[in-house]
Amino acid sequence: MTTTQQETHHQAVVLQHKGLITLEEKPIPVLSDPHYVRLQIKKTGICGSDVHYYKTGAIGDFVLKAPMVLGHESSGVVVEVGRAVTMVKVGDRVAIEPGVPSRYSDETKAGRYNLCPHMAFAATPPYDGTLVKYYLAPEDFLVKLPDHVSLEEGALVEPLSVGVHAAKLAEVRYGQRALVFGAGPVGLLTGAVAAAFGAKDVVFVDVHAIKLKLSTKFGGTHAVDASRIVGEDNLVAEIERVLGGEQPEVVFDCSGAEPCVRAGIKACKAGGTYVQVGVGKDDVTVPLTAIGTKELRVQGTFRYAFGDYRDAVRLISDGDVDVKPLITHHFKFEDAPKAYDFNMNFPSEVIKTIIDGPE
Ligand SMILES: NC(=O)c1ccc[n+]([C@@H]2O[C@H](COP(=O)([O-])OP(=O)(O)OC[C@H]3O[C@@H](n4cnc5c(N)ncnc54)[C@H](O)[C@@H]3O)[C@@H](O)[C@H]2O)c1
Ligand SMILES: [Zn+2]
Repeated sequence: MTTTQQETHHQAVVLQHKGLITLEEKPIPVLSDPHYVRLQIKKTGICGSDVHYYKTGAIGDFVLKAPMVLGHESSGVVVEVGRAVTMVKVGDRVAIEPGVPSRYSDETKAGRYNLCPHMAFAATPPYDGTLVKYYLAPEDFLVKLPDHVSLEEGALVEPLSVGVHAAKLAEVRYGQRALVFGAGPVGLLTGAVAAAFGAKDVVFVDVHAIKLKLSTKFGGTHAVDASRIVGEDNLVAEIERVLGGEQPEVVFDCSGAEPCVRAGIKACKAGGTYVQVGVGKDDVTVPLTAIGTKELRVQGTFRYAFGDYRDAVRLISDGDVDVKPLITHHFKFEDAPKAYDFNMNFPSEVIKTIIDGPE
């Protein structure tokens, strides 16, 4: 027993409905599954998806129908373990993989559990998220943080794992040229992983100079400010120009914006790979002939799967990716509703906000 005897309730950051986030007292969950552990949440990053639920109440088919605890980019400390737990122990500092698939789907059995239709993912309706004091998670969805990796870095393992998964699917190889649209957290981290996997040139494209400036810390060798360029063909020409007349073999769209999707397909070298990481409008128009005549491999990517969290921790631990420069803002747990407002209202200033605690 590691919660104090008096503790029966804890505070949660709850999205009540579109446009309203409050702090709410909730009962502390009881550890009953022998393979689960109780974690004390220490650091949580605010993700664009949380802000999207706050703004609109839905992402695609996931619709908020009841109040939901927010947060899925968290790290914590193990405070209690189920009787069958062998992989972690009380006191371990861990990154928490926030989606637990069913063991009964074809996708899980095929080794692609991120595609499991029964996935229970934190802060995706109807599942509650991690912005609470105590959170229950299975032992095999935790990755221990080495002593020299901070809990803040541990929270950023979540978006880094998105980049790891995308770069693995892209099969990035030594010496390649990579192009990344969107220098938000996901784009910056995807570019950083591509560089760590061997890409020698990494071109970032964004419309915010402040984000492009940061891209040099994430493997960026060239930055293209799309706000200064009119028309996708001119954008493609500028990308080729900064690459000395060459074209990228690997393109990641991490913006979800139609002009980037179109320019990315046009910019990609024949025989190359285009990876759709960003989520935007459901329907966009793409240059289809270019996909055919260049034999492009067009690859979707969704979250992360087996090994990605471990590899993300390893990339941080070994110093191959430094996630710390992403953090631009901190808020206390009690101020979480303000943190979401800030993220919603100042998207060009914020890269990543961390919510500390609760204590
Ligand atoms: N595939 C997945 O599993 C997965 C996981 C997490 C996030 N995502 C998606 O990845 C995308 C990036 O996530 P994020 O958290 O970094 O979001 P973000 O909003 O912080 O970053 C998007 C970036 O794209 C830039 N951008 C927008 N329109 C542009 C344009 N026309 N030209 C150039 N740049 C443009 C923005 O300025 C911003 O910097 C989002 O669409 C998100 O939904 C996908
Ligand atoms: Zn996220």
